[in-house]
Amino acid sequence: MKNITVIGSGTMGNGIAHTFAQHGFNVSLVDISTEALDKALQTITRNLDRQVSKGILTGEQKHATLGRIRTFTETGPGVSDAQLVVEAATENTNLKLDIFAQLDKLAPSDAILASNTSSISITKIAARTGRPEKVIGMHFMNPVPVMKLVEVIRGYATTDETTARVMELAAALGKSPVEVNDYPGFVANRILMPMINEAIYSLHEGVAGVEEIDTVMRLGMAHPMGPLQLADFIGLDVCLAILRVLQEGFGNPKYAPCPLLVNMVEAGKQGAKTGEGFYTYTSGSKDLVVSAKFQK
Ligand SMILES: NC(=O)c1ccc[n+]([C@@H]2O[C@H](COP(=O)([O-])OP(=O)(O)OC[C@H]3O[C@@H](n4cnc5c(N)ncnc54)[C@H](O)[C@@H]3O)[C@@H](O)[C@H]2O)c1
Repeated sequence: MKNITVIGSGTMGNGIAHTFAQHGFNVSLVDISTEALDKALQTITRNLDRQVSKGILTGEQKHATLGRIRTFTETGPGVSDAQLVVEAATENTNLKLDIFAQLDKLAPSDAILASNTSSISITKIAARTGRPEKVIGMHFMNPVPVMKLVEVIRGYATTDETTARVMELAAALGKSPVEVNDYPGFVANRILMPMINEAIYSLHEGVAGVEEIDTVMRLGMAHPMGPLQLADFIGLDVCLAILRVLQEGFGNPKYAPCPLLVNMVEAGKQGAKTGEGFYTYTSGSKDLVVSAKFQK
């Protein structure tokens, strides 16, 4: 495989495009927004510069990587020569169903269609295409160029051949792929989101403040960052959406999102991307000013 198309050039799409291009693949990056595409190229350039300054890449490799990325605002020309499409558009079920119906019409008939969805059923997405055996989940972690895991999700109809090709491809990117079956939240979010939700409940019930909860998990469990800060980085709206998928998918009230999370999302506090969640953020970096109402 040489030609990869990435649909969506936001947080995850730019990282996925960067990673494939860095490993020698030709990448077509598609977004409906030219502004998002411009921002993605700036982010990729900045992240490549960081890799050069750390000695991970040479200046020549940086230029070659950028030279392998082309951008498109139309899906048709963006997927015309794709052997694999990785969809990383906004986490919205109807949007993804429409995108996959369109990809099925526009991409070469032997192309594998993968989704980077955090929680939406791969089986449901695959059913919107005429090639469900070639539809699969390829769940990269943020930041993509750094994080080793790719959760490879087999839908109901995904074949062994499709799975093997995607596992090989992830390994060719220097990642460690793990194969899982298609159930709500897959493995990563089925385990992570209840932990984050429980941390929010601990705050909501006044058991401890934001920094105390995060410190317990960082120093006591050796997590690189606490669950509340991690929720801020993932996006509180994304966490809420995933918890709702778990709650609905399993029909079990244990996944019900904490009312504080619901309130914060309704108030527009979505975490680092909006400048405020459990912490406040200035110029994108973590600022240790914690909103007073969340102090113990
Ligand atoms: N952010 C994370 O930490 C994370 C981690 C793993 C997986 N994911 C998943 O990755 C996907 C993307 O998340 P994100 O955080 O990058 O979102 P984002 O909001 O940063 O980017 C989404 C991009 O998709 C574009 N888009 C919307 N509709 C489109 C269409 N029809 N065609 C092409 N582009 C379109 C938007 O313009 C935007 O640039 C979601 O499914 C999300 O659940 C996110």
